[in-house]
Amino acid sequence: MTSLFDSYRLGGLALPNRVVMAPMTRVRAAAGGLATPSMAAYYAQRATAGLIVSEGVQPNVVGQSNPGTPGLHTDEQVASWRPVTGAVHASGGRIFAQIMHGGRVSHHETTGLRPVGPSEVTAVGDVFTPSGPQPAPPPRALDAAEVPVQARSYAEAARRAIDAGFDGVELHGANGYLISQFLSSNANLRTDGYGGSVAGRIRFAVEAMAATVDAIGAARTGIRLSPGATFWGVRESDVPELYTALLTELARLEPAYVHLEATADEDVLTALRRVWPGTLVVNPTLPMGAKQTGRDDADRWLGLGADLVSFGRAFIANPDLVERLRGGLPIAPADEATYYQGGDAGYLTYPAYSYAA
Ligand SMILES: Cc1cc2nc3c(=O)[nH]c(=O)nc-3n(C[C@H](O)[C@H](O)[C@H](O)COP(=O)(O)O)c2cc1C
Repeated sequence: MTSLFDSYRLGGLALPNRVVMAPMTRVRAAAGGLATPSMAAYYAQRATAGLIVSEGVQPNVVGQSNPGTPGLHTDEQVASWRPVTGAVHASGGRIFAQIMHGGRVSHHETTGLRPVGPSEVTAVGDVFTPSGPQPAPPPRALDAAEVPVQARSYAEAARRAIDAGFDGVELHGANGYLISQFLSSNANLRTDGYGGSVAGRIRFAVEAMAATVDAIGAARTGIRLSPGATFWGVRESDVPELYTALLTELARLEPAYVHLEATADEDVLTALRRVWPGTLVVNPTLPMGAKQTGRDDADRWLGLGADLVSFGRAFIANPDLVERLRGGLPIAPADEATYYQGGDAGYLTYPAYSYAA
C-alpha cells in the first residue's frame, strides 16, 4: 500500500514524500503586494513538505481579494518573490504559486476598482477591506471581450511566477473565487458561451488552464477545485456532470495535477478519481471545518486513490509536519487569532518538535 512517505514524480519534480502544504493566505505581504523576508523564512521552515503550494497570489489589480496579500503582476513583485523561492530551494524544497483571482469577492477599498464577476450577482458575506469587514459589493459583469483577458491573466502571472523562481503554479479554481464563480449556476447567469450549459460554465476554467499550460508547460500547471462547495454563496447544479466534463477537458491538457477539496460526498469524489487519469491531490477536510487534516485522513485518501494529500492548518503550527507525521509525534495546535494577522507572531514563532522536552 502507498505510504505518505513514499517518493513521487510530479511533472519534472521528484517529491521526497506525498505531503503537500495546502495554500494558505496569511496576509503578511508588504505594501504593493510584495513578498517579504518573513515569508521566505516561513516557507523555508516548511521545506520538508513534498510540495509547498503558496498562499493565494493575485494575478492583477482587480483580482486581489483581501488586503495584505501578495501579487505577481509587477516587476517589483517578481523580484520580491525570488528570495522566497530561493530560500525554499536552498532548504531542499519545492514550491508552486497559487494564482488566485477573487472575482466578485473583493472590494474597491482594497483595489481601487469595482470587483468583476461573470454576472452582476453579489457574493454572500462580508469581505475584508482595509477598514474592516464590509458586505461584498455588487460586481460588474465582465463583457465578452474581457473574459478571455481575465482568463489569460492566470497565464501571465504564471509566466511571472516561473521568472520569480517558482517550480510551477496552481490555479485557484475553488472556494467561490473567480473560476469557481464561472463554474457556478447562480453566480454565473451569462447567456453567451461562458455560461448556461455545463460546457459554457467550464469554459473559463479550461481557457485559463489552456493559456497557462501554453505559457509555462503542462508539467508546471495544476488546479484546485472544490466540487459542490458553497463559499461566498456559490451554488453548482449538476456537480458530478459539471466536474466530469471539466476533468475530461482538462485531461486533454495533461496538467501536473488536480487538487480536490473534499467538499462533495465521497462517492462523488471517488467517481472523479476514476475520471481523472493524472495526478490527484486531495485535501480531505472541509475548509474551516471543525477537524483539520491528520494522518488518519491522509492514509484513508491514499487508499481511496489520491496520489498526494494536502495539509493546511497542521502546517501553521508544525513547520516540521512531515517529521511529526512520520514519527507519530504530537501535532501542535495553531492560534487562530494569528491566521491573518500578527506579523512574525504565530507565523515564524512555531518551533520544530523538541525531543528534549
Ligand atoms: C488561514 C487559512 C488560509 C487559507 N487560504 C487559502 C488560500 O489562499 N487558497 C486556498 O485554496 N485555500 C485556502 N485555505 C484552505 C486550506 O488550503 C485548506 O483547504 C483548509 O484549511 C482545510 O484543510 P486542513 O484541514 O488541512 O486545514 C486557507 C485555510 C486557512 C486555515
